[in-house]
Amino acid sequence: METKIIHLPKFEDPRGNLSFIEEENHIPFKIERTYWIYDVPGGQVRGGHAFKEQREFIIALSGSFDIVVDDGSQKQVYSLNRSYYGLYIPCGLWRRMENFSTNSLAVVLSSTKYEESDYIRDYDEFLKYRDEYAKQCL
Ligand code: TYD
Repeated sequence: METKIIHLPKFEDPRGNLSFIEEENHIPFKIERTYWIYDVPGGQVRGGHAFKEQREFIIALSGSFDIVVDDGSQKQVYSLNRSYYGLYIPCGLWRRMENFSTNSLAVVLSSTKYEESDYIRDYDEFLKYRDEYAKQCL
């Protein structure tokens, strides 16, 4: 599956709304790890890197931010600002998160455990990597 916004179930209720995610149902992977990014000072950028294997689903549980996804030749910006949808990102793409609003909360559901060797933090290396491995990530 390519990068795409996935809408989640939403139970609207006068008592407050409810949404949920089931692994391998609403998102196309098993969740090995969940982490979140919060208390981001204005103007800061997070997550400028690519993953060799990690696939992920990112939700703005609170507030808003943008995710810039770069396949090595084109960049696409996705704005997240609701808790009932998120962005699925396959491996092998450079992505960064920016324009965090005050009190925003980004939750990242990951298909892998934390492994520093899965990161590509050098953009030139990413461009090289894209040529060699991109196809197996989509
Ligand atoms: P990192 O993914 O590099 O954040 P960003 O790309 O936004 O700069 O994570 C920052 C640090 O947090 C990293 O050096 C190691 C640690 N970390 C973990 O130990 N486990 C995790 O699951 C994550 C995501 C990060």
